[in-house]
Amino acid sequence: MSGPREGERPRVFVARQIPAEGLDVVTAASAADVWEDELPPPREELLRRIAGCEGVLTLLTDRVDDEFLDAAGPALKVVSNYAVGFDNVDVPACTRRGIPVGNTPGVLTETTADLAWALLMASARRVAEGDRYVRAGRWRTWGPQLLLGGDVHGATLGIIGFGRIGQAVARRAAGFGMTVLYWDRVAGSPELERELNATYADFDELLAQCDLVTLHVSLNDETRHLIDGAALARMKPSAVLVNTSRGPVVDQAALAEALANRTIAAAGLDVTDPEPIQMDDPLLRLDNCLVVPHIASASYATRGKMAEMAAANLLAGLGGERLPNPVNPEVYER
Ligand code: DGY
Repeated sequence: MSGPREGERPRVFVARQIPAEGLDVVTAASAADVWEDELPPPREELLRRIAGCEGVLTLLTDRVDDEFLDAAGPALKVVSNYAVGFDNVDVPACTRRGIPVGNTPGVLTETTADLAWALLMASARRVAEGDRYVRAGRWRTWGPQLLLGGDVHGATLGIIGFGRIGQAVARRAAGFGMTVLYWDRVAGSPELERELNATYADFDELLAQCDLVTLHVSLNDETRHLIDGAALARMKPSAVLVNTSRGPVVDQAALAEALANRTIAAAGLDVTDPEPIQMDDPLLRLDNCLVVPHIASASYATRGKMAEMAAANLLAGLGGERLPNPVNPEVYER
């Protein structure tokens, strides 16, 4: 393993080609080894390439754990994750070694809320199914009962997880004259509820009352399989479930069963468990399930801003400065 030498630019590994807004900054300031393939570096290759690096820019597909930190070695000063979510990072392991971890909060809130809405509307109104119907040459006439779905306007929307993204989803509901219920571990302030016209509901009550349910929790031990068979059974048969959070928040086998049995009407998924979804997953055989490949933050502007933020975190860490967005600020209190 080789560490940095005095006067040399810091060695950095960048686990994928992020947009130029960030990559150019990183390559200008460091001796950067950039993984150019579309697929993530295989584990062995990742561990080999990070050896002796002072900084690593990771993606949600790269697991950062003790093995990773051992492989990087004592020169490592910072891990910058190109995502707001950081369930791929063992944060306590980084903190124990005094390594700050950065993420990209805020910039993807609105873009992610846009996609949650796209999935809510497309699932309720069977847009993907309609497109498949046309392309299959099945459109023969206007049909009074063709591809009927649920109304979005005037419906009751349930938001599970009321952080930045959940709130941005609620804000958009105003244009559709909806009743908005939300659930989180703690209720929001009365001012926030007034501003967003949203009412706190008990988890089971929300599931039972809502026509559309959208998930915005982060993944942790408490939220893994939060939506399991029992939760799905509480929902209305006409209900739509949307997930733009993390795949394992939903018990995917239970969801496939609920969709097949019409326990609920439809689902729109941006995230699956695992990713990518296996091609033999029962969900892919169901017309009432819409799946897109984890693209909630995928607008040109937002991915560019995420790259800028990830680069800023990386460079701050290399320079021994506080990261603009640390997920473990406790490293600075040691
Ligand atoms: C995140 O940032 O956590 C998203 O899942 C990808 O942008």
